[in-house]
Amino acid sequence: MKGIILSGGTGTRLQPLTKVTSKQLLPVHDRPMIMYPLQTLLLAGIKDILVIVAPDHAGDYMKLLGSGRELGCRITYEIQDKPEGLAQAFIIGEDFIDNDSVCMILGDNIFEDDFSDTIKQFKSGGHVFAKKVPDPERFGVVKFNDQMEAVQIEEKPKSFLSDYAITGLYIYDRRVVEAAKQVKPSNRGELEITELHNWYLKRGELQVSIVKGEWIDAGTFESLFRAAELMRKKHLK
Ligand code: TTP
Repeated sequence: MKGIILSGGTGTRLQPLTKVTSKQLLPVHDRPMIMYPLQTLLLAGIKDILVIVAPDHAGDYMKLLGSGRELGCRITYEIQDKPEGLAQAFIIGEDFIDNDSVCMILGDNIFEDDFSDTIKQFKSGGHVFAKKVPDPERFGVVKFNDQMEAVQIEEKPKSFLSDYAITGLYIYDRRVVEAAKQVKPSNRGELEITELHNWYLKRGELQVSIVKGEWIDAGTFESLFRAAELMRKKHLK
């Protein structure tokens, strides 16, 4: 299993903080934000990791993470020239993924859960993770049937679909590269990752599990503060 941390984007909601640095390098308690998703991958036993960054701050990421040797992994880097969507990561990462499966995590997503078992047991298809949230319209949303099987997934639904947001950790087999190449840009000009979930869902090959612990998408001032608070509390324990 290979790992990708997607750490580009513009971070407009966090301006002016993100005028001078990348969102995922901002401090969350005692370390830069990206260290948390990196820890999630390392905890799950993933040792070969591609970090995808925007051109402006690529040097800062290299300075922080280097070769990965000190962290016990191998880190390589790719630039995403423009933030053209999450699904584009699998096109940029095609050579890196090669014939393996891949676990992608967003550089601003902080999880408490340990995904080791899920990742070790993964064989094929897609596996994504959902969490009940008060503001599902901000995310990709999944609707379940009575057996908690995913039946419908929509990106930022305009009318209520369900309370379950799809979080920023995605496991796919190598077919994801071909699937990503088939995705057409949405109205907002992005290759939407929801289309990839639906590619697998349509084939009956998408598993959706529930995240048990805390999950924070640290992309707003409010959630950035909550993330720091959560990590500080954990530190004090
Ligand atoms: P978002 O939070 O949706 O976008 P953003 O980081 O640009 O922030 P804002 O909406 O405030 O402008 O992105 C989720 C994560 O995915 C985040 O870690 C950035 C990353 N990302 C990319 O790396 N490339 C992309 O093309 C997009 C859309 C997001």
